Amino acid sequence: MKAKIEFSNEKRVCHLSNREVSLVLEVKEGKVLTYRYFGKKIKEFNNSFNQPFISRGFSTTYNSENYYSLSEELIFSPTKGMGDFRISALDVTADDINHIELKFKDWKILDAKPSILNLPSSFESKESGSLTLQITQLDQIAGLELITYLTIFDIAGIITRSSVIKNYSNKEITINKATSLSLDFYPQDFDFFSLTGAHTNEANINEFKLHKGVQKIESTRGASSPQHNPFIGLKAPNTDQYQGNCYGFNLIYSGSFLGEVELSQYEHIRVQLGLNPEVFEWKLNAGQEFYTPEAVLNYSDKGLNGLSQNFHEFYKNNLITSKWNNKERPLLINTWESMYFDITEEKVLNLASKAKEVGIELLVLDDGWFENRNNDKTGLGDWVCDKTKLPNGIEGLATKINDLGMKFGLWFEPEMASLDSNVIKENPSWIIRSKGYDPAVSRYQFVLDLSNDDVIEYLKTKLDSILECGKISYIKWDMNRNITDVSNKQLQHKYILGLYKLLNYLTNKYPEILFESCASGGGRLDPGMLYYMPQCWTSDNSDAISRLKIQSGYSLMYSPMVLTNHITTSPNHQIGRVTELKVRYNIGSFFNLGVELNLENCSQEELDDLKQYISQYKNDRKFLLDSQFYRLQTTDSNDFMWLIINKEKTEFKVLIAKVLSKPGIVFSPFKLKYLNPEFKYQNQETQESYYGDELMENGVSFPRLRKDFQALVYHFKKIN
Ligand code: GLA
Repeated sequence: MKAKIEFSNEKRVCHLSNREVSLVLEVKEGKVLTYRYFGKKIKEFNNSFNQPFISRGFSTTYNSENYYSLSEELIFSPTKGMGDFRISALDVTADDINHIELKFKDWKILDAKPSILNLPSSFESKESGSLTLQITQLDQIAGLELITYLTIFDIAGIITRSSVIKNYSNKEITINKATSLSLDFYPQDFDFFSLTGAHTNEANINEFKLHKGVQKIESTRGASSPQHNPFIGLKAPNTDQYQGNCYGFNLIYSGSFLGEVELSQYEHIRVQLGLNPEVFEWKLNAGQEFYTPEAVLNYSDKGLNGLSQNFHEFYKNNLITSKWNNKERPLLINTWESMYFDITEEKVLNLASKAKEVGIELLVLDDGWFENRNNDKTGLGDWVCDKTKLPNGIEGLATKINDLGMKFGLWFEPEMASLDSNVIKENPSWIIRSKGYDPAVSRYQFVLDLSNDDVIEYLKTKLDSILECGKISYIKWDMNRNITDVSNKQLQHKYILGLYKLLNYLTNKYPEILFESCASGGGRLDPGMLYYMPQCWTSDNSDAISRLKIQSGYSLMYSPMVLTNHITTSPNHQIGRVTELKVRYNIGSFFNLGVELNLENCSQEELDDLKQYISQYKNDRKFLLDSQFYRLQTTDSNDFMWLIINKEKTEFKVLIAKVLSKPGIVFSPFKLKYLNPEFKYQNQETQESYYGDELMENGVSFPRLRKDFQALVYHFKKIN
């Protein structure tokens, strides 16, 4: 169903809806813009639940004639100082102004969704159109206008929100807080969930019952971070993968953020997501405007898989700009885990020719290819090829790889510099530091100040000098430390604007290049980066069994093609676990697969198996690209089950993985989901066939797995 926006009650009420969701707003007291409903699509809004306002102790009344109080209202843009007392969404100050009162001015439907100045944002597409409501609120005393865009997409469940703050006074205004999203709910039972973690241990589900007060997740690191992804979920108790009401909020932004949920005195729930005031402030001179990043609001009554489907479809159809979005990705081999910094042209070429033999299509030269880079202590920043390692230069090597019939890709970490680099020696002021203090070191490197246009110009020239040869088909864009030593609260946001400016330039100039984002794995895995780069190295932990949890976690928002997963060596380099090659392949094959093995060290048997797996993956690649990924509901956290099924429901693959082998095994039927009950499916290995209804109602059995760290895959196709 196409998205709709309808006004009623003399344009005091506005109802946005699509197939799955309704959002209702109402102007109350002639000036307060409020939420009235956000949830499962309803046909019409006729105010069936009309919250009474009663006399309460400590309550401030907004209207002295009745008990109407902001502290119990569902406010669209809450501000402090007007008697709400909950967290505010917009906080500005000026010489003589310490709080503002935003009064509703007007709203209208726009012909097209506006883009957000200098920030990545979602767009309409032929797959999914949209309608945008533009809302204007005003504070005439402060001379401030807040324009908010609410866009409802045809994609089930998805609405986005962003704002422009305009200073039309004649004085400077300071923005102390400007959230992208502020959303209130009437009292109801919700569990909070989000993704938390650390380097090599990303995307753990962090889940708890809402408690009174404010609960928050945030990053102050200048990157969205693996510690907390810019995502907040709320779900009704007992929601599982298959059923239940749930909401997900995600920020299209790659820097520091704050996500808060407040459960208030009378149990109203306020959710906010946006820039983090701890490290943000903005000066708006007279006549200036400020654009907030865009927030994504997602609702599903079909459980967590429903929520994920909405996100996956939306990012694919309405956010990722890369040409590669709908294309099969080349199967790559990356040099990192087989060579680390110990690179020579000969070794790289040997790896490439072995890789070619097993069917690999792209060789990625990771860290270590540039001058002075024999470990992670030196060398970042100048980006000059180390001719002692690669005597024919990058172009020469790329040509040789191309001659083997393979594409060539390269690793960069453009935002950083090591202290010994010429770029820092010549421009000491280009690293982020506070005057007088020694900057904090992380991975022996410093962050270049991307808020400085000279730095951006330098990076454009450097990258152009390497990319203009036209032989680089892929870039891994790394970012391996966080921002410290920030001398003012504008810098972090300006840094991200600088980063986006650079990415805009490069992705437009080199549209054929496949960009993969990476920040020691999932350190900056967010929709902001996705806008420019269609895939991300999910974690520096490449152990297949660890990835069961990490890939499952990120799959809440991001589809399999976004999340790369490599077959690496066993014992695994990060955690030492030993796993079979087949297990590593089976788990990787549900995602954007690559290889990071030292093929020289593989036995002939392993190479033969690898060749067969790669050919299998290439056969399945189109199916993977066009299919839907579901997490199947398991009762034991030791088990993981995934399903990939095409939209026509004629073909599917199921993965069943067990972390540890257990005694006293119980054989219960495992009921598949999301199949077509009318279709008869054949197991491609055993040739046994069953109707979808039997597979879903009677379930299937899986063999006893008498070993730790196992993963099996079953492939079914519809037969006539
Ligand atoms: C980060 C990346 C790795 C690798 C190294 C190189 O840790 O996540 O994949 O590229 O940097 O230094």
